[in-house]
Amino acid sequence: MDSLFDFDGPPDRYAVMGNPVSHSKSPQIHQALARQTGQRIVYEAIQVDPGGFSQAVGNFRAAGGKGLNVTVPFKQEAWTYAEERSERAEQAGAVNTLLFLDSGLVRGDNTDGVGMVRDIVLNHGCAISGRRLLILGAGGAVRGVLGPVLAERPARVVIANRTAEKAEILARAFGGNLVMEGCGFDALGDETFDLVINGTAASLHGESLPLPDGILAVHGACYDMMYGLEVNPFLQWGEAQGASRLMDGLGMLVEQAAESFWLWRGVRPDTAPVIASLRGG
Ligand SMILES: NC(=O)c1ccc[n+]([C@@H]2O[C@H](COP(=O)([O-])OP(=O)(O)OC[C@H]3O[C@@H](n4cnc5c(N)ncnc54)[C@H](OP(=O)(O)O)[C@@H]3O)[C@@H](O)[C@H]2O)c1
Repeated sequence: MDSLFDFDGPPDRYAVMGNPVSHSKSPQIHQALARQTGQRIVYEAIQVDPGGFSQAVGNFRAAGGKGLNVTVPFKQEAWTYAEERSERAEQAGAVNTLLFLDSGLVRGDNTDGVGMVRDIVLNHGCAISGRRLLILGAGGAVRGVLGPVLAERPARVVIANRTAEKAEILARAFGGNLVMEGCGFDALGDETFDLVINGTAASLHGESLPLPDGILAVHGACYDMMYGLEVNPFLQWGEAQGASRLMDGLGMLVEQAAESFWLWRGVRPDTAPVIASLRGG
C-alpha cells in the first residue's frame, strides 16, 4: 500500500490496444524495460471492439493515460486519430505509438520500421547499406518498414507480393531516386539478393511462398517479421537455400517497443537482455 508520504504519486499509465490483444507480449516487454531503467509505469493490454477505437482512446486519456501502443487492426485509425505525426508515421500510413503531449495534442509515430532495421543491423550485425534486398509482401508491415530500410541506402530493393499490383504501387510510392521495383512472385528468378525479408502473413498460416531456387546470393540472409512459430516455412526455405543467417521478428518486436518507450520516457533501454529473456535465455 502507498504510504501517506509517497510524494511520487501513481505510476504513469500506458497500454497496447488491439483486437485480439490477449496474446500480446508488449506488457511483459514494457514492464521489463521499466524495471531495467527504474521508470515507474504500469502497462496493460486493452482489447477494443471494432468501431470502438476513438472512444477507448478517449476513456484512456480521461483516466490519465500517457501513451498507447496500437496494434492490428487499429493502426490506420490511430494514424487518423493523431493530430500531428512523425515523418515515418506519415510515410507508413499507420501509427503504432500515440503520445498524449502536455500541450493536449496527440502525436502519432510508427516505430515498427526502425525496430526492424535496428534488429537486423545492430542486433544481428547484418548490413542493409549497399546490399540487394528482396522484400516479400505489400501490406501494412512492409509499408511501415520501407522508409527506415531505404534510409540505410540499400543498392536495390525489389518488393514481391502475391497481388503484384500492390507491390508495384508501393514501389512507385517509395521509389524516389533508388532502384526499386515491385512485382509478383512469378517475376522472381533472374537476379539474386543479399537479404530476403518476409513481411507477408503466410508463415502465420503455416504456408510456404512460391519462391524460386537460387535467388539468395552466396552468404545471403533471411529475416521473417513473424516470431514464435515452432515451424517457420520461410526460414525453412532459407535454410534449404543455404542462408548464412536465419532471423525471426522477436528482436523487431522488442526494438519497436524500446523505441516507443524512448519516445514516452526519454530513456533508451538496453534491449539485449529483454530479447534474451523472451527467448528463454
Ligand atoms: N515482429 C514484429 O514486431 C511485427 C510487426 C508488424 C508485423 N509483423 C508481422 O508481419 C506480417 C504481415 O503483417 P501486415 O500487418 O502487413 O498484414 P497485412 O497488411 O494483412 O498484409 C498481409 C500481407 O501478406 C500477404 N499474404 C497473406 N497471406 C499470404 C499467403 N498465404 N501467401 C502469400 N502472401 C500472403 C498479403 O498479400 P496480398 O496483398 O496478396 O493479400 C499481404 O502482402 C504478419 O505476420 C505480422 O505478424 C511483425
